[in-house]
Amino acid sequence: MLAALAAYQRGFAGRRAQICYAMKANSSLAVLQVFAQAGCGFDIVSGGELERALAAGAKGTDIIFSGVGKTRAEIRRALEVGIGCFNVESEAELEVLSEVAVAVGKTAHVSIRVNPDVDPKTHPYISTGLKGNKFGVPHERALHAYQRAAALPGLKVIGIDCHIGSQITDEAPYLDAMERVLDLVTAVEATGIPVHHIDFGGGLGIDYDGTVPPAADGLWRKLLARLDARGFGDRLLMIEPGRSLVGNAGVCISEVLYLKPGEHKNFCVIDAAMNDLPRPAMYQAYHAIAALKRGASHASATYDVVGPVCESGDWIGRDRALGVQAGDLLAVMSAGAYCMSMASNYNTRGRAAEVLVDGSQVHLIRERETTADQMRLERLL
Ligand code: LLP
Repeated sequence: MLAALAAYQRGFAGRRAQICYAMKANSSLAVLQVFAQAGCGFDIVSGGELERALAAGAKGTDIIFSGVGKTRAEIRRALEVGIGCFNVESEAELEVLSEVAVAVGKTAHVSIRVNPDVDPKTHPYISTGLKGNKFGVPHERALHAYQRAAALPGLKVIGIDCHIGSQITDEAPYLDAMERVLDLVTAVEATGIPVHHIDFGGGLGIDYDGTVPPAADGLWRKLLARLDARGFGDRLLMIEPGRSLVGNAGVCISEVLYLKPGEHKNFCVIDAAMNDLPRPAMYQAYHAIAALKRGASHASATYDVVGPVCESGDWIGRDRALGVQAGDLLAVMSAGAYCMSMASNYNTRGRAAEVLVDGSQVHLIRERETTADQMRLERLL
């Protein structure tokens, strides 16, 4: 985690920059604490994430609040703790933000998330920065939104932000999006509204299957050169990386329960499932799976690695060559991002324990969830 963060920090060395960890990737308190202590701010998308960040030691001013559906209650609480910036996603949100800020007698610092509409044909994995996505204010409406924000009471425009998608392993979309955002900064400032910070959104993709993404420091050297060439190198720069700070740092350890050979398929049934690791079921995502051998190795066969949940969609890996038998342990790799934070209790399965390893030190950072924990908020008739 810290090595991944250091690559971004090297990329921004000598610049005014703030790295806000997108905590949706992994919001466990101890993980947040590591990043808070390393000087990160946080990118949040709910009131729940706000409370977690504060509990982990973050200051309100180091938190930015993204998301298309902030409620009045969430906005009020964020103003109360002096949130650094609201990344506003619609013109309607601007009106509500202004209304709430005026009502509580505070000024809301505002950035508008612009949807850069980067060409999908060249970059098919970009899914949040396209026309037709629910995110951000369309590029051609952005200037209008800035003028409205500048005119509304209780709001102070401080920045601009964008987010083009996740798991991007190509440099080109970042460069394209930067050009589009800088065009807008020029247009907004020409109307007399200063843009103090520029937030380029999420971080790089990670290595799930051997595809190695560009290094964060190398990518940022290129982006900063372009920023300097266009005369924006002196701005406060922000990014909101999530996956790349935690993804490759986590593994999910699971036990083989049964081997189930079949006519068409062999199944390896493990004690982790789609409720623990939802990415394969949700996105047909690939996670490498490694057998953790104890003693002699077993004959290898090809298995679909599946969990105990009662859904055919409950698979973790397909057609994997593994030499295992019941009782062996497997590691599902690159499970640090969007796995525990997306875990559920489906099939009344308790969420896993979490262990943070720091050199030779091992910390239990989350206890295994019990059935009593799961039933705590429920009542019989
Ligand atoms: N900022 C905003 C506004 C975002 O929506 C996201 C991710 C990030 C930052 C962080 O992006 P990253 O650096 O992690 O690429 N559950 C999906 C990923 C959803 C990403 C949503 N937004 C998955 O497991 O692949």
